[in-house]
Amino acid sequence: MKGLILSGGKGTRLYPLTYTRAKQLIPVANEPVLFRVIRAIRDAGISEIGVVTGDTDAEIRAAVGDGSRWGVRVTFIPQESPAGLAHAVKISQDYLGEDRFVMFLGDNVIEGGISTLIEQFAHSEWNSQIVLTRVPDPQHFGVAELNEDGSIKQLIEKPSDPQSDLALVGIYMFDASVFDAVSGIEPSRRGELEITDAIQWLVTHGYGVRAYVHRGWWIDTGKPLDMLSANAHVLDEMNPGVDASAEVASDSEVGRRVTLQPGVQIRNSTVRGPSIIGKNTIIENAYVGPYTSIYHDCVLTNCEIEHSIVLEGSQISGVSTRIVDSMIGRNAEVGRTLRKPKALKMNLGDYSNFWLP
Ligand code: DAU
Repeated sequence: MKGLILSGGKGTRLYPLTYTRAKQLIPVANEPVLFRVIRAIRDAGISEIGVVTGDTDAEIRAAVGDGSRWGVRVTFIPQESPAGLAHAVKISQDYLGEDRFVMFLGDNVIEGGISTLIEQFAHSEWNSQIVLTRVPDPQHFGVAELNEDGSIKQLIEKPSDPQSDLALVGIYMFDASVFDAVSGIEPSRRGELEITDAIQWLVTHGYGVRAYVHRGWWIDTGKPLDMLSANAHVLDEMNPGVDASAEVASDSEVGRRVTLQPGVQIRNSTVRGPSIIGKNTIIENAYVGPYTSIYHDCVLTNCEIEHSIVLEGSQISGVSTRIVDSMIGRNAEVGRTLRKPKALKMNLGDYSNFWLP
């Protein structure tokens, strides 16, 4: 089997972070979501992976490289415009050939591996296998209606009046019959070739499509709050570890479920887990609470933060109010100035949010 990861698209719902970065490269527990997806596919025994890219092609290529770091071979497949998930399959036909494949959306995070599921499909007679999960807001996803025997009755992309709470998770398995399906459908109302319509085409034309209902957590990291909740889930599951080169001063308290990456320095501070502090980050006179990921080369002094994600190179200092539920981008500065007038001063990017207590 081969793997196909979709890493194009625009990421508008994660603005401003995704103005300057591919959304699939935003880290959750200090590892880009896309890297987790590559590992999940590799762990299922697949070593040939195609990565579909869009506007952020150069950045994705630079971050992923040739895949050898994970022991896989990565081939990049540029998509001219984000014309839909089924369009991405269409342009990948030459790469995929006659192989069965798993398609994974590069912004999805799922509990546990998917190895068993992929292995089952690899040796089955099914033409396709989809993964479903129950959600409170099905209108934001592809939705499946099942018959009593578990077979698929109907699939609809983002219906305004959903007939079920079973959403399509961004993991799909196909054989080569999907190429007939993606050629047999028309663009949807939003102008995209929908993979949901392609799977419905397979069902209508009598192909075997199996629906598997996933019971653990799953997050489509489309919005900032989704990123924070994916971050919390992954931190919860993480085996913590303190690198030998991390320095924790005797005046500091570091909880059991904290991961410290190489070169971290903690002075006169409290860090509670589950949380992770990235390479060469300095935490001084500060409190880092549960469900927080601070990426590499950050400096946090005289501040308190929890249930947040801070990206690389950022500095937070002298903020007396605790920062919570926040996402702070790369090389950002959050601090205090003594210069008059005594007022809030900000330099926020387009579509930023700033809330006062
Ligand atoms: O996350 C699950 C949902 O993903 C499913 O329930 C929906 O049925 C499915 O259509 C999809 O919906 P989204 O609206 O969330 O898809 P999004 O546009 O966010 O794209 C998902 C990923 O695919 C993302 O990593 C970007 C990439 N992509 C997207 C498009 C439209 C591409 O690589 N090429 C594209 O043309």
